[in-house]
Amino acid sequence: MKALVLYDSFFGNTKLVAEIIAKELDCKAVKVDEFNPDMLQGLQLLVVGSPIRGWRPSPLTHEFLNALPQGSLKGIKAASFDTRMRIFIHGDATKQISSGLINAGAEILVDPKWFDVKTKEGPLFEEEQENAKTWAQQLISKLKGN
Ligand SMILES: Cc1cc2nc3c(=O)[nH]c(=O)nc-3n(C[C@H](O)[C@H](O)[C@H](O)COP(=O)(O)O)c2cc1C
Repeated sequence: MKALVLYDSFFGNTKLVAEIIAKELDCKAVKVDEFNPDMLQGLQLLVVGSPIRGWRPSPLTHEFLNALPQGSLKGIKAASFDTRMRIFIHGDATKQISSGLINAGAEILVDPKWFDVKTKEGPLFEEEQENAKTWAQQLISKLKGN
């Protein structure tokens, strides 16, 4: 299976989640501004994660999604995640990420997932590293059709 995890991160928390997921998927975690369309060659699964910034995905994540040509993700399964705080109105980054991926032709494989940080700078809540691993395993199992 060829997979790729793209992420943005300011303080390292989303990066850590992306790296845990990538390790399970046996693929690379790449910062979203280092994305290059050649990376889509033969790709089966694309996972995109962003911290929530002002109730939405980060500016770099937006840029990536807006630059994706229509149809460029045709035939590719995709999933989105975000990192956020446990606050009353936290917003959501995954909806916009998923819409962008769908607009580019991807098929969403599983429900989006979020991972909570304790403060703006982190760290992640203790259970979230294990949750990231479990979510990645769900992706693999869904991709295999189980
Ligand atoms: C300018 C700014 C805006 C933020 N806006 C939100 C927000 O709307 N909702 C939320 O849950 N967290 C918000 N956060 C907290 C981030 O989600 C948190 O910093 C992020 O999950 C950490 O991930 P990172 O280390 O990968 O950057 C904000 C943080 C900053 C610095």
